[in-house]
Amino acid sequence: MLVKTNRQFTILTIGLALVSFAGCSGSSDYPEAFKSRFVYSDRTDSLIAEAQNGIGELPGVKKLVDDRFGDPQDLMAWTKLPIDFGGISGKLAETPDASIAVKELKISFDGELATAENETILLQFVTGTAAPSVVVVNAWQPETGLASLSAAMEVAPAAGDEVIVGGGQKLVHGRGLYMRHCSHCHGTSGDGAGPTAQYLTPRPRDYRHGVFKFTSTDALSKASKDDLSRVLRNGIPGTYMPSFVPMLNEDDLADVVEYVRFLAMRGEFERKVVSELASDYSEEAVKSRRDSGESRKDIVEELKSFLAEDMQDSLEFVTDDLSGRWDSANSEDALVVPEIARVEDTIESRRIGRELYLSKTINCADCHGISAKGNGPQTTIYEENPVTKQLYTEPGLHDVWDNVNQPRNLTQGIYRGGRRPIDLFRRIHAGIKGSRMPSFKNLKHEDIWHIVNYVLSVPFNAEPGHAPVATSEDPATAASL
Ligand code: HEC
Ligand code: HEC
Repeated sequence: MLVKTNRQFTILTIGLALVSFAGCSGSSDYPEAFKSRFVYSDRTDSLIAEAQNGIGELPGVKKLVDDRFGDPQDLMAWTKLPIDFGGISGKLAETPDASIAVKELKISFDGELATAENETILLQFVTGTAAPSVVVVNAWQPETGLASLSAAMEVAPAAGDEVIVGGGQKLVHGRGLYMRHCSHCHGTSGDGAGPTAQYLTPRPRDYRHGVFKFTSTDALSKASKDDLSRVLRNGIPGTYMPSFVPMLNEDDLADVVEYVRFLAMRGEFERKVVSELASDYSEEAVKSRRDSGESRKDIVEELKSFLAEDMQDSLEFVTDDLSGRWDSANSEDALVVPEIARVEDTIESRRIGRELYLSKTINCADCHGISAKGNGPQTTIYEENPVTKQLYTEPGLHDVWDNVNQPRNLTQGIYRGGRRPIDLFRRIHAGIKGSRMPSFKNLKHEDIWHIVNYVLSVPFNAEPGHAPVATSEDPATAASL
């Protein structure tokens, strides 16, 4: 449910206590972790203090982020984001007579508002003049939609105003599960730096780039909710990322996925806001500006007018881009769907696939090697870090997280994004996002299938180029689309 509003930001405070988790088995291991706070990125910390903390009334990066996302103990539901925060939303059906004290409201809810007897219903205004106030409903008549309030409203609302009951429940539930099951690897803020992370290769994903590797969506799209829940169901084979089925049920999975998306959007928002400021207002940039004669006072004055004016436009752009892209990843248009069914897995198809694999235009071998062991020429070069412009100290390709990005050894038959032929089709079509495995979306779908047939045959061939048809026990060929 996305509560759309006309205001630029509607922010609901949904800070709820963690009461419901107390006493659950295992929670006693993490009482401190449960209380941990979000941290800011190193890039935020590299800005001058005024850019981090703001100037006078003008917010800097930290407040811009906190106002929209809050803190684990006091989460914000920024309704501009395409996140299902939970709760039932509705609209005021009639404008109450403002000449008398408003103690009754007529509301139509989008779903069924199930309430236990004597349960206090908290109704929060999301839009309109009464937003973001919360009123207490004493009695609720589902038949007529009439809510009797415990006290008269201070500001009279109007028909069409949006309200929500139980806002944030899903997110708070997702947070609890995340803190218990994920944060020791992925970190409270989703920075991939939990206490266990240092021992793991590959490192747990840092969500804050807003990039996930193994998706069913096209090369330019974000991960869909289905992609993230598939990762939680299956784990990531060949890594420490475990499967959470049957430990988590369907509702749990959905809620923890929303929380991961929330953390990813928080991180990405912070990154993008910092990017607006980093080139002129990082400590380093300001130092070199001062070396070339500018005064710090003038630089801060300039920053002040930047925060007051240009930053407002940037925020609007960043917000629309963020919510649009995360939303559209869930649409059917974003899904990679082969135009033709899998080409029959014959010796001939595998041979064509291998030729394409080795060809100079497609050149999978440049990274994965002629023998497909993940040892192509690209693994020995020294690359430049795109941000610092320095050479990395270790040879090989690097992903957007600056980790060494080893091309997969295809002779092992372990596929992190799933082993079904359709998974491999999508991997080749869309690439592996944030990694150096490129998208081959311009290839004919028939050719991608030939390559899939070849790749799936690699673990069963002693000699490269020798491609017998697999037996019926061969799980790779037995798996169907
Ligand atoms: C034991 C450590 C560990 C735990 C616990 C763990 N993860 Fe992971 N997770 C990893 C590692 C390692 C990776 C990176 C694998 C890779 O790069 O291929 C990862 C990757 C991911 C990804 C990225 C998928 C992609 O396509 O990029 C998501 C999403 C994720 N984990 C979510 C979770 C959630 C949610 C939980 C808790 C329910 C969780 N993880 C628990 C270690 C862990
Ligand atoms: C520029 C280097 C590069 C090229 C070219 C390249 N790959 Fe990759 N490939 C990688 C890297 C790096 C990874 C590991 C990515 C990761 O998991 O972070 C990878 C991973 C893979 C995987 C593993 C998928 C999974 O789910 O684990 C397959 C399969 C694969 N590549 C096939 C191919 C094929 C087929 C081609 C040619 C059509 C190709 N690659 C071209 C770098 C490359």
